[in-house]
Parts: sequence; structure tokens; C-alpha cells
Amino acid sequence: MIIAIDGPAGSGKSTIAKMVAQILGFRYLDTGAMYRAVAVRARDLEVSYDDSEALCELAERDAIEFGFNENESLPSRIFIAGKEVTDEIRCAQIDKAVSPVSAHQAVREALVAQQRELGRRDDYVVEGRDIGTVVFPDAEVKVFLTAGAEERARRRAAQNREREIDFDYDRILADIIRRDDYDTNRLHSPLMAAEDAHLIDSTIMTIDHVTNTIVDLARAVDGLE
Ligand code: DC
Repeated sequence: MIIAIDGPAGSGKSTIAKMVAQILGFRYLDTGAMYRAVAVRARDLEVSYDDSEALCELAERDAIEFGFNENESLPSRIFIAGKEVTDEIRCAQIDKAVSPVSAHQAVREALVAQQRELGRRDDYVVEGRDIGTVVFPDAEVKVFLTAGAEERARRRAAQNREREIDFDYDRILADIIRRDDYDTNRLHSPLMAAEDAHLIDSTIMTIDHVTNTIVDLARAVDGLE
């Protein structure tokens, strides 16, 4: 079974997708991390973020792998071409670079093929922007998770404070609005809800409430325990 969770930056997708995967015993795939890893690699190799062909070649050639920390059942580390980029993919520079990199159709095709290959083999909770619309249009459960921009910025600031990285609220809010705009208006696979997606607005819902709602949807599909 595939559970597709799409939505804008900061809507709580990662936290919720991981909790759903843990409860159901599914694997977890963070497709945003894959686009971020390609952006890091492009930066390191000094490939221009406008060079569709070179970026695509890189995405096809340099294997992306996920790794586990000890005692963790879900992957939280990511490697590209054998190099760990777990922390680097979250820096402000890559926050900016990932939008133009992920807007290239050729890059998307390369990564979507890898995502489909993984999903063919196991039960997965997959989070991203185009999972229910493009990557797995036949996913058994599709969720489009949203929250107001201010609430998303507040959550991201709190998360950053915990990780001891920049948590300037105004900068984070501006970045969220910029990325929403870019991801929603790009030509290829823009951020949008699939017609058959369940829309969940998490602005005033707790994480547990959202998680349980999705778990119930999955269990209703074929009587999963
Ligand atoms: O979920 P995230 O913020 O880590 O995603 C990083 C960027 O990657 C986001 O700005 C849009 C892009 N992305 C995408 O285009 N398609 C996906 N399936 C996942 C992410």
C-alpha cells in the first residue's frame, strides 16, 4: 500500500508521515530530501541550477541512499554519491537552491523513476508535492496537508530553535511564502491536491489528531491492523 502525503513547506508532513509509518509498520520516503540532495551535489560540483541537462545527468548518475541511526526504525540519514549530506540539505542556501533545481522536468523524471521503483517493492508512506498527482496516482490513500502560512512559519521557527539554527520568524515566513509561490506556480508537477485526496487543514489540529485521521483512512482501505 502507498500512503501519499502532499502539501506545502512546513505543513507538518514529515512529522506526521513518520508517525503514520511507525504506527502501521510501513517504510518512509522523504522525496523532498532527494531534491535537496541533488541541489547539494550540484552546488558541490558547481553545476548551474539552470542547467537542466547537467542536473539531470547528475540525478541519474549519483545514487541517493538513505541510512538509519542506531535503534531507529525509519531512515533519518541521506547520502548522495556515497557522501553523507544529512545536515547540509537543511541549510538556508539549499532551502533556496532546491526550488529551481526541482523545477526542471528532467530532474523530476530521474527522481520520480527512483521513487516508483522503491514504492513498487514495499508498503510506503511517501511525502512530497506531487506524490498523489504524479508519482503514485494509484496510491490507496492520498492526503493533502495544509496549514496557514503564519502557523507553518511558527512551527518551523520552533523546530529551528530546537536544532539551534536560525529561527528568525520573519525570514522563515518570507521563505515559506516564496517557496509556496514557486512550487505552486511552476510549470512541471506544481504543488496541488489530487482530485481524490483527503484535504486536511492542520492549523488548529494536534499532530496526534492528524496522524490518527490518516491511520484510520489507511485501516479503512483493507482492514489493516
Ligand atoms: O519537503 P521539502 O521542503 O524538503 O522539499 C524541498 C523542495 O523540493 C520543495 O521546495 C519542492 C521540492 N519538492 C518537489 O518539487 N517535489 C517533491 N515531491 C518533493 C519536494
